[in-house]
Amino acid sequence: MFCGVLYLHSILKISQCTCGHCHMKKHNDSWFSKRFNASYHPLMTRSSPVSTETFLWWKKIQPRSGTGWNEYRKAVDELFQIIPDKELYRDEGPDRCRVCSVVGNSGNLKNSRYGPLIDFSDFVFRINKGPTKGFERDVGSKTTHRIIYPESAVDMDNSTHLVMFSFKLLDLKWLISVFTTHTVKRGNTPLKSTIRANQSLVTVVSPSFMEYVHGHWLGKHGRYPSTGFMTVVMALHICDQVRVFGFGADKHGNWDHYFEKTSPFYKTGPHGGTFEYDTIKELHKRNIIEMYGIW
Ligand SMILES: *[C@@H]1O[C@H](CO)[C@@H](O)[C@H](O)[C@H]1NC(C)=O
Ligand SMILES: *[C@@H]1O[C@H](CO)[C@@H](O)[C@H](O)[C@H]1NC(C)=O
Ligand SMILES: *[C@@H]1O[C@H](CO)[C@@H](O)[C@H](O)[C@H]1NC(C)=O
Ligand SMILES: *[C@@H]1O[C@H](CO)[C@@H](O)[C@H](O)[C@H]1NC(C)=O
Repeated sequence: MFCGVLYLHSILKISQCTCGHCHMKKHNDSWFSKRFNASYHPLMTRSSPVSTETFLWWKKIQPRSGTGWNEYRKAVDELFQIIPDKELYRDEGPDRCRVCSVVGNSGNLKNSRYGPLIDFSDFVFRINKGPTKGFERDVGSKTTHRIIYPESAVDMDNSTHLVMFSFKLLDLKWLISVFTTHTVKRGNTPLKSTIRANQSLVTVVSPSFMEYVHGHWLGKHGRYPSTGFMTVVMALHICDQVRVFGFGADKHGNWDHYFEKTSPFYKTGPHGGTFEYDTIKELHKRNIIEMYGIW
C-alpha cells in the first residue's frame, strides 16, 4: 500500500518509525532480536503446530485443567469447518508497508484528539468492548480487527475481523456455538450465546503464539499475558509500522477506561501489568513502535 502516513508524519513532525526505518531498527536491535521470533505466527490454522509443551502451558492457564488433547483437536477441527482456514498476513517483504494502530482502552485517550491519526492506518486493532461511537474525536471510527474473548464479546460490523484469544477449551466451543447452535451460554459467568460478526472474518490466536509471548517477551511474568500486550506483539508480527494508543494510566494516575470507570484492582489482574507496560515503553524508546499517551 502507499505509505501516505509519511506525509502526515512530516506535517506533525513526529516522524520516528516509518516503515523502512522500523525494519532496520527491528533487525538491528539485539534486545528486540532476543524477544522477537518471526517463526511464530499469531493466527491459527487447522494445521498450526502445537507442541506438547505449549499444550501443557495452555491447559495450566485454564480454570479447570481437565482438557485432553483429543478434545482440543476435535474443537479445532470443528472450528475450521465454520471459519476460513487461511494463512493470513504472511506477506512480509521490503515493499510492504502496513501501518497498524493498536488502541487500548485507557482513560488517557480522553481529549487526546488522536482519532484522525488512528483512522489513518491500514489496520486498527481495538480490544474488548472499546467503543468508537461517541468517542470518534479521540479514538477514531475505523476498526479492522476487534480482539475479544467470550466474556468480553461485543457485536461488530460486517467488515471487522473478530480476533479471539482462547484461554480455555470453552472459548473455542463458545466461538463454534455462536455461529451454529447458540447453546454455549455460560462459562464461569454468563456468556452471550450469539453476537453479530462476519463469520468469514473470524480468526483465532494460536496457543503457541500466546505461550511465545509469555515466555519470550515476558520471561513468564504473570500467569499469562494480557490481551492488550499480546495484541501489541501480534501487531509487531503482522505490521511494518506499529503505533500504540491508550495504554497505561491517565495523567492523574488512574487506570480508568476512556468510556467507563473501572475497579481500582483493574491495574494488573492475573497479568504482569507493570512488566508488560515497561516492555511497551522499551519498544518505544528503541524506536520500534510509537507509543502515544502520557507516561
Ligand atoms: C546496524 O548495525 C550495524 C553493526 O552494528 C551498523 O554498522 C549499521 O549501521 C546498523 N544499521 C542501522 C540501520 O542502524
Ligand atoms: C524461533 O523459533 C523456532 C520455533 O520454536 C525455533 O526453531 C528457532 O530456533 C527460533 N529462532 C531463534 C532465532 O530463536
Ligand atoms: C455491511 O454493513 C454495511 C453498514 O452497516 C451495510 O450498508 C452493508 O449492506 C452490509 N453488507 C452486507 C453484505 O451485509
Ligand atoms: C463479510 O466479509 C466479506 C469479506 O470482506 C464480505 O465479502 C462479505 O460481504 C461480508 N459479509 C457480510 C454479511 O457483510
